[in-house]
Amino acid sequence: MNIAVLSDIHGNHIALEVCMAYLAKQDIDAYCFLGDYVGELPGIRQTMDIVYDLQGKLPCHIIRGNKEDYQLYGLGEGHPEWDLYPSTVGMLRYARQHLTQEDITFLAALPITDCIRVDGMEPIRICHGSHRAVKEDIRPGGSQNREIFAEVEEKYLLCGHTHMAMDIWEYGKTVWNPGSVGLPIIEEGSMKAQFMILHGEKRCGKGEWTPEFVALDYDIEYVIRDMREKGLYETAPYWSRVTESILRGKRTTQGRVLCRAMELCEQENGRCDWPEVPENCWERAYEDMKRGKI
Ligand SMILES: [Fe+2]
Repeated sequence: MNIAVLSDIHGNHIALEVCMAYLAKQDIDAYCFLGDYVGELPGIRQTMDIVYDLQGKLPCHIIRGNKEDYQLYGLGEGHPEWDLYPSTVGMLRYARQHLTQEDITFLAALPITDCIRVDGMEPIRICHGSHRAVKEDIRPGGSQNREIFAEVEEKYLLCGHTHMAMDIWEYGKTVWNPGSVGLPIIEEGSMKAQFMILHGEKRCGKGEWTPEFVALDYDIEYVIRDMREKGLYETAPYWSRVTESILRGKRTTQGRVLCRAMELCEQENGRCDWPEVPENCWERAYEDMKRGKI
């Protein structure tokens, strides 16, 4: 029994296609997608279509992530008063423009947690952040780990969201994070598409899961060209520059740069309410990121 586990694609269909071509040559029995299908890169349509196509071919366990929740909350819709803040809301709007009503209905019906049950094997709890919140981080030694793991009945837990491949054993639970297909946080200059294959084997009548972490090279320059051709640098100027930096191996996140931009905005104006973050604050935060100050 082999289950392919993919998370945090973020619209990077070029990375996803490389993963799917690799997996097509493996003996895969089921697929598991841990959320964040949309986000920073333009291949939203292709990503959704790959997921739909697989559903018709093999058993698929599909849950939703925080990026899908933002769409369900309507953050990508309307609000002409937000036109002044393209770096903050541009990619949310882009995602909404490239999702159909059928996609929204599909995403709305997805659970935030599920359980993979295979005869004779230990069940596996799956989630994006945690079983209780799409935006909760599970990391080694995390302060919430004891509480989270006590609430989860299953011994095995699969999660995404941090964009870091992880193998954690704490409080009697085994937690695996496959990393991110589309935008992993990895060592400088070594961008790869990450995912995992879970191998289930029955040994002496007992079902055991063994993780195989996979990281594949792909054409980063092609992805950056695609971003440029699709107009992402106009749609979300600094957000997309940060995306490019991450693709080129910078260990940062859009969230971290956004926080810095909001801090600068607050220093200037006394307060800063999302998404009202001026582009000049984004510009300065982006420069701070480049200089390694954040
Ligand atoms: Fe993500």
